Amino acid sequence: MKVIVEKDYDSLSKTTAQFLASKIKIKPNIVLGLATGSTPKGTYRELIKLHREEGLDFSKVRTFNLDEYVGLDGEHPNSYRYFMNVFLFNHININRDNIFVPDGKTKELEKYCKKYDRLIEKSGGIDIQILGIGTNGHIAFNEPADELSTGTSIVNLTKNTIRDNSRFFKSIDEVPKTAISMGMGSILKAKKIILLANGKNKAEIIKKLIEEDTITTYFPASFLRLHPDVTIIVDGEAYSLIG
Ligand code: PGA
Repeated sequence: MKVIVEKDYDSLSKTTAQFLASKIKIKPNIVLGLATGSTPKGTYRELIKLHREEGLDFSKVRTFNLDEYVGLDGEHPNSYRYFMNVFLFNHININRDNIFVPDGKTKELEKYCKKYDRLIEKSGGIDIQILGIGTNGHIAFNEPADELSTGTSIVNLTKNTIRDNSRFFKSIDEVPKTAISMGMGSILKAKKIILLANGKNKAEIIKKLIEEDTITTYFPASFLRLHPDVTIIVDGEAYSLIG
């Protein structure tokens, strides 16, 4: 795994956006795997800037998001579809038909998960997958557990994740307990993976990710060690425990 250390969140965001922009220019119909959360917000902000100021063209770009809360529709302010609309899609010239975010309101959950993986395959597969990492080492909503799903599936969120994500809700009781998440297998099929992490609260998990060498379902991000093309981009704080 290649590691790039940026001095702060701003430069991490700029570097990531510039890299994505360079790939979009080479392959205008690129398939991007996108993540929600605080971490990629800056990258999306920079992509919007590149669209506005330099005409970066998203008209043929296709996107698949990692996950969505079960029970929330795309209009719900805490849904990941809403997040993506507000922080990226509403501000760029992406074709709405090319946007895929798991549907948290789907009735046939199991069937839908299989369909989501098929849609990714039909698109030709994800060219670049953007990932954040949970303080517990989760990737998307693949939480530490005895077993992890390979394909997209319905997952139970851990107490740790519900607590971390409650900052976006009025109260912790409002945080959904289940989500649709791309599986570790769906993620590892991406041709290139970029994992982003910033801030002191990610320092411990980044140290573990960079310094350890084993794989375990109790540390889902450890599976990234099996992928041939992973770049970790961190800021100084997230890198601060590595000596
Ligand atoms: P964050 O979430 O970007 O809000 O820290 C990352 C994650 O939980 O995967």
